[in-house]
Amino acid sequence: MKKKLSVNKWSFDNMPESYDSHLRRSIPLYQESQFFISKISSYFIKDENINYEIGCANGTIIGSLAKEYKNFSNTQFVGIDLSKKLIIEAKKRYKNIKNLNFYSSNASHYKFKKCNLAIIHYVLQFMTDEEKKMLIKSVYNKLIKSGAMIVFEKTLMEDSYSQDIFSGIYNDFKFDNEYSPEEVIKKSLSLRSVMRSSTSENNIELFKSVGFKSVYKFFKWGPFEGYLCVK
Ligand SMILES: C[S@@+](CC[C@H](N)C(=O)[O-])C[C@H]1O[C@@H](n2cnc3c(N)ncnc32)[C@H](O)[C@@H]1O
Repeated sequence: MKKKLSVNKWSFDNMPESYDSHLRRSIPLYQESQFFISKISSYFIKDENINYEIGCANGTIIGSLAKEYKNFSNTQFVGIDLSKKLIIEAKKRYKNIKNLNFYSSNASHYKFKKCNLAIIHYVLQFMTDEEKKMLIKSVYNKLIKSGAMIVFEKTLMEDSYSQDIFSGIYNDFKFDNEYSPEEVIKKSLSLRSVMRSSTSENNIELFKSVGFKSVYKFFKWGPFEGYLCVK
């Protein structure tokens, strides 16, 4: 009788290691994407309205922006995440930062308020097409004119040949970061029913379909992409 691998559904509530270490070891150029988020945000954060991070996990990105703009008294920073556990952690980490709030919610049903900026860093890929569309549309509707949405996504490559090459290279990245082959396989099994990546072309089409006039793809590492969408 063949031995069967036991499969657990992927959950951000139940990670086998600390959240920060997981992101650093699993997302290529994580520091660099934070650099771009911080620098691009400085063109859109004004002393007014709200700046959101959607799928903020334990709050690293929105927390660091809120600290950077602590002297802006009329703007608020808001992090939203599906995971109650991560939101509790985020609230604890940033309890002394006055201009920052966290809410646990499915972002595609969240009632957004008038905002200047929305950051969505590797989150849409966990949503169905309907949820992605609902979310992007409600963000667009609440952004001020000339406000921005910054999105990072792990995409599907344009054909099966490049998908094969870059999946292999991404596995090499994880091995280099000291994940064992068994850990890599277990994670990919647990993500099978959870990941809903789109191609770069479909992502850009989605952003344009809700009304974003300017969509700039400014970041690319194999299938990992970053887009700046301006209303
Ligand atoms: C790969 S993590 C990225 C976290 C964070 N943006 C960062 O880069 O540090 C994806 C996050 O999206 C959250 N998420 C997934 N689906 C969501 C949804 N429908 N609404 C809100 N958050 C969601 C997960 O709970 C998880 O914390």
